[in-house]
Amino acid sequence: MAGGALVTIEGIDGAGKSTLVEGLTRELTARGVRVEALREPGGVPVSERVRALVKDPALQVDPRAEALLYAAARAQLVGERVRPLLARGALVLLDRFVDSSLAYQGAGRGLGVEAVRQVNLFATGGLEGDRTLLLRISPEVARARQGSRAEAPDRLEREGDGFFEAIAQAYEELARGDPARIAVIDAARGRDQVLRDALAAIEDLVSVVSARAAR
Ligand code: TMP
Repeated sequence: MAGGALVTIEGIDGAGKSTLVEGLTRELTARGVRVEALREPGGVPVSERVRALVKDPALQVDPRAEALLYAAARAQLVGERVRPLLARGALVLLDRFVDSSLAYQGAGRGLGVEAVRQVNLFATGGLEGDRTLLLRISPEVARARQGSRAEAPDRLEREGDGFFEAIAQAYEELARGDPARIAVIDAARGRDQVLRDALAAIEDLVSVVSARAAR
């Protein structure tokens, strides 16, 4: 843990990550915590351009190229925003990070979790989340939620159920392998309950960041 703390939010599309990030930002800001919320891919101009490219349903992207594009967007975000914010003592909430690539490209695209991990080690210079909130939801429920959204599905969201099953399973394996970092949250319940669980899962980090800021 640098000066601040890095909390990452993970889960399949439709799990409710953006809603949770909004709720956490609101709650923690009200408590006087310096919070910065960012999303992946994106968060800085270079990475937002990569985001537009990787999400474009009109493009066919080779799986290895896809893994590298996400890693490139991540490298830029980490260098330009995340590391400086952590050095200044902020609590950074990141909507997706390396685990997304491990699950989507490693498992979903079949590139292998370890190969994708290596690429990402280079991209991030080894930066890891202090805590990861994994929103657990079944692909069927997630798809039903997405169906009620106004926007058209992007390139990834157009994939079939098998793709999301593989990703959900990979997330579970990652959580089993790193229980100290990854807190699994039942995301099928109401947003207030999910927010309460998420706050409880990061309470220790919030206390440390607040205590440092008060010094
Ligand atoms: P989202 O920001 O709306 O979740 O869209 C990002 C999409 O990109 C989503 O379908 C997940 C996918 N993705 C990957 O496949 N690998 C990654 O490393 C990241 C960050 C996202």
